[in-house]
Amino acid sequence: MSEARTSPESALTAIPSPGSHPAPVGAEVEIWWSRVDVGNLSGSLRSELTSHLDPDRVAKIGRYRRPEDRDRGLAAHSLLRRVLSAVTGTPPPAVELGSFCISCDEQGHGKPYLRTGGTSQPVEINLSHSGEIVIVALAAPGVQVGVDVEQGRTVDWEAMRSSIFADQEWAATERRTDREHRRLFTWARKESSVKASGHGLSLPLRDVVTVEETDGTWSASMPAGVGRVAGADLDLAPDVAAAVAVLREQGWPEPPVLHQVQIGLAGG
Ligand SMILES: CC(C)(COP(=O)(O)OP(=O)(O)OC[C@H]1O[C@@H](n2cnc3c(N)ncnc32)[C@H](O)[C@@H]1OP(=O)(O)O)[C@@H](O)C(=O)NCCC(=O)NCCS
Repeated sequence: MSEARTSPESALTAIPSPGSHPAPVGAEVEIWWSRVDVGNLSGSLRSELTSHLDPDRVAKIGRYRRPEDRDRGLAAHSLLRRVLSAVTGTPPPAVELGSFCISCDEQGHGKPYLRTGGTSQPVEINLSHSGEIVIVALAAPGVQVGVDVEQGRTVDWEAMRSSIFADQEWAATERRTDREHRRLFTWARKESSVKASGHGLSLPLRDVVTVEETDGTWSASMPAGVGRVAGADLDLAPDVAAAVAVLREQGWPEPPVLHQVQIGLAGG
């Protein structure tokens, strides 16, 4: 299995001010991510992050029982809205988001999308959060994108094996000395693929089969009717496995651009 894509930048980036950041075009994909000290954010930071959200999201996050989950949700959705504000010029809480479940053909749940705001055709988005990491992917209009991150997980791999891995994927990880980390990357590849498609976990992960490409990227064959996915691993930090995928018949076009931002303090 290949190593993850290396981040082109290690310095923290400030989220650009509203309307000052160009939308991705063509095959460009941007990744915005942060390490967050979940469960320990200050009251003032929590208030600030809350001020970026819309009332429905604030209410939803308020129903999470654990402070870690609330902080993760606040950080992820604040990041999403601030990045979209940077592209569209709309203030973060006014950014209009919808969600659509392609499996049920219903609005109101499923993959989030940008409704309106400054661009003639909205940019495509996806979001993931796990452990201390929150991550947002941005792609040009019409480019279906999915992102997944795994961090801080203890996994019973033998128990998960049959539901997640195709036999050849499992065999490829068994040859590795860093096999548990590679399995997490394989998992992230598959989840980013089903998220790019919009179906999420209603597609069985075992039926999404990833293959290494010679340039270090990967592709995935999807269950019938969903098409193919091209993907790239994201090398964010040694304890993190993350991947981004786009629905696309051809290979991955150009490396995603990584932006690490600071939301609170936790070495990130
Ligand atoms: C969406 C899903 C893949 C999330 O996976 P996860 O590893 O638990 O969580 P992640 O942090 O990576 O991603 C969560 C984000 O994905 C996004 N998302 C939700 N549904 C999505 C979908 N169908 N496709 C792509 N992205 C989706 C949301 O932004 C969500 O953020 P939120 O939970 O803060 O609102 C998974 O929970 C799922 O597929 N659920 C629905 C399963 C299903 O049966 N759907 C069809 C019947 S309704």
